[in-house]
Amino acid sequence: MTPLQYVLITCAVAHVVLPLAVATSDAAYPPPYGLDQSGTTTTTTASAVDDLIPVRREVYGGGRIIDISHRYLSEMPTWESPDGLGHFLWLAKSMKNGSEANNSEMKLPTHTGTHVDAPGHVFDHYFDAGFDVDTLDLEVLNGHALLVDVPRDKNITAEVMKSLNIPKGVRRVLFRTLNTDRRLMYKKEFDTSYVGFMKDGAKWLVDNTDIKLVGIDYLSVAAFDDLIPSHLVFLKNRDIILVEGLKLDDFPLGLYSVHCLPLRLVGSEGSPIRCILIK
Ligand SMILES: *[C@@H]1O[C@H](CO)[C@@H](O)[C@H](O)[C@H]1NC(C)=O
Ligand SMILES: *[C@@H]1O[C@H](CO)[C@@H](O)[C@H](O)[C@H]1NC(C)=O
Ligand SMILES: *[C@@H]1O[C@H](CO)[C@@H](O)[C@H](O)[C@H]1NC(C)=O
Repeated sequence: MTPLQYVLITCAVAHVVLPLAVATSDAAYPPPYGLDQSGTTTTTTASAVDDLIPVRREVYGGGRIIDISHRYLSEMPTWESPDGLGHFLWLAKSMKNGSEANNSEMKLPTHTGTHVDAPGHVFDHYFDAGFDVDTLDLEVLNGHALLVDVPRDKNITAEVMKSLNIPKGVRRVLFRTLNTDRRLMYKKEFDTSYVGFMKDGAKWLVDNTDIKLVGIDYLSVAAFDDLIPSHLVFLKNRDIILVEGLKLDDFPLGLYSVHCLPLRLVGSEGSPIRCILIK
């Protein structure tokens, strides 16, 4: 990308972002560089790095490491909101305003973007007993994982689960669905028609597989119509971890090594999580 193209793109982003920023106290906050209006990443060349243009990647090491977390952006969808996440990050202290350093602050629901659910999310007595995200097993969140495509014409029912033929012994599965094709995580407006697990699909998984990490490509593993029932089935035994809002675009099916790390938020039943795949 030439510097001119960069300036044009940056201006385009600034046009989108600034009216929002001016209305709040963070007018100094920089726009999300490297993103065009459709939310996809612009490519950056080595020479551009020297022109003080940050590099934003989806893959690292020539494709060996794939980032499957979404960027946190004010336009990203958030639970049941038509307006997206909105203003969540601001520059509380800024050098341009006389501070010694730039210091940003943020405020966001813990179930925002790519995130993890702990058992306390749907079981009050688990919450009270302290089954928060700090108690999740990093061994489950890190290891061999299978990326599978589910049929695009159904939610994930028992019948669908059965048809996937996921072998015994597979402990981590990332389910790529119609949500990825529809690019729902890039749409500001929350969409209740996303694909997720129906209660019988969740039950089939619990009863017939060794899966302990369930990953999916929209804000909930459970279909909206079976929201709480599916979560209850998954989280009842406290041995299954749900990772939601994954970015599963543009890479082949197969076996990977997944690495997911939640924040150690004591007392929280949810946390943003950074997940990567390593080939
Ligand atoms: C943030 O810090 C940099 C130095 O690291 C400074 O050049 C810049 O002006 C600061 N940004 C704002 C908005 O204050
Ligand atoms: C900069 O400082 C002024 C005066 O204290 C304050 O009114 C303003 O909100 C600050 N702006 C930012 C971006 O911090
Ligand atoms: C999945 O279920 C939702 C309701 O939870 C529904 O709106 C949607 O159409 C279903 N998707 C498919 C592909 O059947």
